[in-house]
Amino acid sequence: MDKLSITGGFPLHGEVRVSGAKNAALPILCAAILTPEPLVLKNVPKLNDVHTMRSLLAQMGVRSEAEDDALTLSAADIDWPLAPYEMVKTMRASILALGPLLARCGEARVSLPGGCAIGLRPVDQHIKGLQAMGAEIDLDHGYIEAKAKRLSGAHFVFDMVTVTGTENLMMAATLASGRTVLDNAAREPEVVDLADCLNAMGAVISGAGTDRIVIEGVSRLSGATHAIMPDRIETGTFLVAAAATGGDVALTGTRPDTLDAVLDKLAEAGVAATIDGSTIRIKRNGRLKSVSMRTAPYPGFPTDMQAQLMALMTVADDAAMITETIFENRMMHVQELKRLGAAIEVEGNTAIVRGAQKLTAANVMATDLRASAGLVIAGLIAEGETVIDRIYHLDRGYERIEDKLSALGARICRVS
Ligand code: EPU
Repeated sequence: MDKLSITGGFPLHGEVRVSGAKNAALPILCAAILTPEPLVLKNVPKLNDVHTMRSLLAQMGVRSEAEDDALTLSAADIDWPLAPYEMVKTMRASILALGPLLARCGEARVSLPGGCAIGLRPVDQHIKGLQAMGAEIDLDHGYIEAKAKRLSGAHFVFDMVTVTGTENLMMAATLASGRTVLDNAAREPEVVDLADCLNAMGAVISGAGTDRIVIEGVSRLSGATHAIMPDRIETGTFLVAAAATGGDVALTGTRPDTLDAVLDKLAEAGVAATIDGSTIRIKRNGRLKSVSMRTAPYPGFPTDMQAQLMALMTVADDAAMITETIFENRMMHVQELKRLGAAIEVEGNTAIVRGAQKLTAANVMATDLRASAGLVIAGLIAEGETVIDRIYHLDRGYERIEDKLSALGARICRVS
């Protein structure tokens, strides 16, 4: 199993290009199910999760061909509208095949995802929304068995804001008869990117990016070409890494407008960023101020940046309160950060982080994707050699992270 070795204490300097967004790419790959014509995607990140999604789609009969960062998907025929347990258990985003399969084939059999490291993560909203659109759904031996001759437009109000729930229902509604209105919808930029792709395929969707999305169903969708948006979480991770090491880094090819909450927190911490078109430059000169934060659905502070901000706060000047409101078990990095000398106490879903003068190297274990990113940042700060085990989590969501960090001057290497 691969590990990462990081020798910390060196400021990051230079320029790095941001890759396409994992959480936009995964639903958009599933959108290919909705049309028999080819869907051409650009700026597709080379990630293990994208690879897993291609394998899942291939099992259904969706062909895909990659060339550089482009991917052409072709779902001329769907042979097998099934997402088996073996795939869903390795990647929960497989649930995103449910809506498109049902809309295109009139049936789908998708394994129920289990709980995962960061929380229980039920999919009741996906199921209730499809039922509201007329689907018959049974749960059988751990599988969601869904049937509908043709889905019908409906008004559905989500009980809570769910990103993949919104995406699943939005995709299903594109081919339904009549109008679907989704209220309390997720406003994440990845939802907007998916809607843009679906509209390019001939769907009629308005309101994406607000909490009310309206979809006028059409009888068929066609092929299209779409470029995946830049990854705001990768951008944020590098911004925090630069701030943590006292560096000076420019992130190019990104979408600064999707990062307001993160940039605001960094500014509060005393780290100023300058924006020039699609480039964000971040430079830290002085001491880091402690800042408190609660995660929230977009446009609030993203839960996917919580571990990274916590790593930064371990070396700030005072105490910070970090509250996780989206997932019930997303604090597993705390124990590992403590191994590096961080002073953190957890009470319920809040961590109190007391800034220390320094962190010192240790062996640590990655527990989930974003926790791993937090540990990488802590490793870049800590004196000595930190070794991070189980980095397969990182490979799911960060493209060549060690190459990108090395190019910025980090002492980091992969150990097989
Ligand atoms: N929830 C329910 N019922 C549902 C759906 C969600 O109770 O039917 C709850 C969840 O348990 C959670 C909350 O609602 O407490 C929000 O979950 P959401 O459905 O929004 O999460 P998700 O769609 O499964 C996506 C991202 C996550 C990101 C969250 C929150 C993808 C593929 N995944 O997950 O990304 O943390 O939104 O922004 O888009 C990551 O990239 O590391 C990652 C975990």
